[in-house]
Amino acid sequence: MRPENLTFFRDFIREAALISLGEDKEYLIVSRLNALYQREGFSNLDDYIDAIRSQPSGPYQTNAVEAMATHETTFFRDVNPFDSLRDIVIPQLIQNRENTRQLKFWSAACSSGQEPYSLAMLIREHFPLHQIWDVKILATDFSLSVLDYARKGLYTQIEVNRGLPAQCLVRFFKKQGSDWLLDDAMIRQMIEFQCMNLNSYFHFINKFDVIFLRNVLIYFDVDSKRMILEKIRDALNPDGYLILGGAETTLNLCEDFEPVPVGKAVFYRLAKT
Ligand SMILES: C[S@@+](CC[C@H](N)C(=O)[O-])C[C@H]1O[C@@H](n2cnc3c(N)ncnc32)[C@H](O)[C@@H]1O
Repeated sequence: MRPENLTFFRDFIREAALISLGEDKEYLIVSRLNALYQREGFSNLDDYIDAIRSQPSGPYQTNAVEAMATHETTFFRDVNPFDSLRDIVIPQLIQNRENTRQLKFWSAACSSGQEPYSLAMLIREHFPLHQIWDVKILATDFSLSVLDYARKGLYTQIEVNRGLPAQCLVRFFKKQGSDWLLDDAMIRQMIEFQCMNLNSYFHFINKFDVIFLRNVLIYFDVDSKRMILEKIRDALNPDGYLILGGAETTLNLCEDFEPVPVGKAVFYRLAKT
């Protein structure tokens, strides 16, 4: 790739998706874009990048940004955070919200939906809140392709083999051909999927009790992590919890959060002022 195209592309991805591609990431860019430029009918990668440079926005730009994002996810990923939610956090929130009977969750960067669906199944399986409480799960990602996939609630055998307990498969899924479809009334209706870039302004009317922001900050540089954590701080209820991925932390980024052990997991709460 021509050096000026590499520089342009790194800046373009950072601006569009916050994703930080270090100087050593040329191999990653080339490997992710190779199939794409050929599919779009270009004979080499530089011509494709030139086409991206020639217009402010359009399908080339959208597809290139999507190609640079990593969408890896599984049901009940890492297990411990979900156990801690079930055993400690949700029971505590239910006590604290007895008056309003409202619980609000947000899976930010939800990828193909396994994270918010795991939460919905956990709530359905363990807490008899249905029709008595107003439980809302907002699930957002900037990638339209993963959101389309997530909204369908249809997963392959390989996907359900990754992390989904057998009792959840039996109770909440129906076989459809060789795939598995999540129950609409019991699970899919609990979730609202929305397209949202973490780069954008957050405009929520009500704050959230639990925010999942897992395995996405790792792709951003320090300034972007700080900027997002400050916006997340303002979107979280004072007694709420932020859940990050195992390799992520708020330490040295946003002092308004403090890590707290919750069962076998570590979550983040707003520091008392
Ligand atoms: C590795 S997945 C994590 C999925 C899930 N949270 C988990 O932990 O299993 C990261 C997701 O972040 C999304 N993402 C990356 N940059 C984003 C941005 N700037 N705004 C919103 N979503 C973004 C990607 O599209 C991808 O689906």
